[in-house]
Amino acid sequence: MLFVCVQMVVMALMYREGYRKRVGYFLGIFRKGGTPAAIAQGNLTHPGDVYANLSLIVKPAMREEDLPFCPEKSPLINGPFRVTFPPMLTMAEVEQKNPFVRAGGRYKPPDCQSTHRTAIIIPHRNREQHLKYLLYFLHPFLQRQQLNYGIYIIHQAGNYTFNRAKLLNVGFKEAMKDEDWSCMFYHDVDLIPEDDRNLYTCDKYPKHASIAMDKFGYKLPYKTYFGGVSALTPEQYMKMNGFPNNYWGWGGEDDDIAIRFNMLAKTRRTWKQDGMNTMEYEVLSKEFRPLYTNITVDIGSEKGFHPKT
Ligand code: BGC
Repeated sequence: MLFVCVQMVVMALMYREGYRKRVGYFLGIFRKGGTPAAIAQGNLTHPGDVYANLSLIVKPAMREEDLPFCPEKSPLINGPFRVTFPPMLTMAEVEQKNPFVRAGGRYKPPDCQSTHRTAIIIPHRNREQHLKYLLYFLHPFLQRQQLNYGIYIIHQAGNYTFNRAKLLNVGFKEAMKDEDWSCMFYHDVDLIPEDDRNLYTCDKYPKHASIAMDKFGYKLPYKTYFGGVSALTPEQYMKMNGFPNNYWGWGGEDDDIAIRFNMLAKTRRTWKQDGMNTMEYEVLSKEFRPLYTNITVDIGSEKGFHPKT
């Protein structure tokens, strides 16, 4: 009996601690990110529909170059939104809900000129359901932030072991051919943002955007964790020689990327010998689909790269 009682007390204390941290996290973003206006607008206790504010976007009858600049803080930002998955959702429905999105998954606010040009790079293979729901949330999420953005799906051809980081490298290089993006978001296909105050813009330093995920109890699994969703300017990315190409299969590549920022990396030689400067691949197709640009790529295998002749 005594043992059971002690167990119950310990469990109660642990539960209380977890709850306190979770509340603390939300209060944290509240204090740091929320303007009084955004807090007044956002119904924080009852998160709403991610599409709720988008009907407010109207294209004025004037030339694009005459549009005013977008305000520093988007008035469409509304805080947390409900993440539930509409059953039977189709890509056609996602398209209908995003009438301002152009071919290739490109968007510019119709009513103001955005100073942010963000490309979202998503490595992908055989995750069609995840992709559909991610697009369903990501498009309105980015529109609420009044960004000029493009979504790139980097699809690994063939059945050879997946290589997330190499696909991200390809995404960077190919996306930069389209536009002078000021910020790249490297994004897992199975992660959905829950709060539009998590801005998909770049900072002075590389940024880790998925610091609080449900699967990790809304806290970092370890201090140097850099997986999931991260953001770098093209300059930051080139300075660290991009990402490693030699992590085939699950795990480790994000830890390698994290180490590239660290001063300790200077003593490790590998980051200079494996990255953007050594990457070999061949683009098999590039399609401008309604909700994203699809780039199918042959990235070779562990044994090397043999382009088809
Ligand atoms: C792996 C990372 C992964 C993390 C969280 C680590 O052990 O090396 O790649 O992101 O676990 O799952």
